[in-house]
Amino acid sequence: MKKLTEKEIRTFYTMSDCIAAVDKAFRYFSAGEIQLPLRTKITDSTTEGTYLCMPASCEIYDAAAVKILNVFPRNVKKNLPTIHAEVILINTETGQFEMMLDGNYITQLRTGAATGVAFAQLAKKVCRIGALIGTGGQAAAQLEAMLTVRELTEVRIYSSNRNKAKAFIDKMSILAEKFNCQLVQAESANAAVSEADLIVTVTSSTTPVYDAQKIKRGATISAVGSYLPQMQETPSELFERVDKIYFDSEAAVLAESGDLLVPIQEKRISETDFNGDIGQLLLGEITGRTSEEEIIFFKTVGIAAQDLITAKSIYNQYQNQ
Ligand SMILES: NC(=O)c1ccc[n+]([C@@H]2O[C@H](COP(=O)([O-])OP(=O)(O)OC[C@H]3O[C@@H](n4cnc5c(N)ncnc54)[C@H](O)[C@@H]3O)[C@@H](O)[C@H]2O)c1
Repeated sequence: MKKLTEKEIRTFYTMSDCIAAVDKAFRYFSAGEIQLPLRTKITDSTTEGTYLCMPASCEIYDAAAVKILNVFPRNVKKNLPTIHAEVILINTETGQFEMMLDGNYITQLRTGAATGVAFAQLAKKVCRIGALIGTGGQAAAQLEAMLTVRELTEVRIYSSNRNKAKAFIDKMSILAEKFNCQLVQAESANAAVSEADLIVTVTSSTTPVYDAQKIKRGATISAVGSYLPQMQETPSELFERVDKIYFDSEAAVLAESGDLLVPIQEKRISETDFNGDIGQLLLGEITGRTSEEEIIFFKTVGIAAQDLITAKSIYNQYQNQ
């Protein structure tokens, strides 16, 4: 079985390609065209390692795949990555294994692309300033997705680790220059978000990372980091100012993310305030932005549909080279 590495994928597959794939994934998901059972999870009490297995299939896109993701938090002490992931594509005619793709890179790409799809659909047509909070493993793809869908002149970057934020800016400046955009290190998360049209939070924080009052009217926010009830990047007070709320999957977000579960518990919002899944918007079933003044919030926790369609679209492009 051929294994495609990140390096190989980068030679022929772009963020634009992935945004198109994830756009399809969200449409198929909302149209009920993707089978994705709940992921299985085994935790090893000795090592604290977790093995996650995520199968998915989509008949009309001729795609079947399993993502295997192992999270071993103690690897930090061994100086090894804490996450190891692969996506295995399966031939839908024969069940044979077709290709293995670097699951870490697929995750970064498809997570960035979710933000790209959301901003393409929900942001004001003209956006100039971006903000990126968090400069870890997912951040590069988030930045590239923002730059791909809107012509930004400046992105203000902040993370709790100042040195790592600086190193991230140094590394990503070449990419930003290609988009005629300048990357600026912000002194605080509030300084980063205060004038921003587009905001991405992609941190592992358990407490809100900026003040709700700092968000300007017309901003669009993609909240990527919180995937557990005890994780919260978004201040609950923001929901008193937000006009519209969308999800990758409302069911998945409400099962997992403190960004929504905390303000629901605090009775600041209820399910009647939710606009729906981005796939429903793409299918024309619900409305999107209707004024330049609206503050719009998109929450993504990531769904296997994104991995499936991304992996298959990479495979298709690889075959057609
Ligand atoms: N939505 C999805 O589909 C999806 C996919 C992959 C990962 N994630 C989640 O996104 C988050 C980020 O992932 P990653 O791989 O980049 O993690 P990472 O550990 O590599 O980086 C985390 C970043 O958050 C910053 N940070 C932490 N607390 C902060 C705070 N209070 N203020 C500002 N910055 C803060 C750190 O300095 C670092 O830059 C994780 O919680 C991860 O589980 C979500």
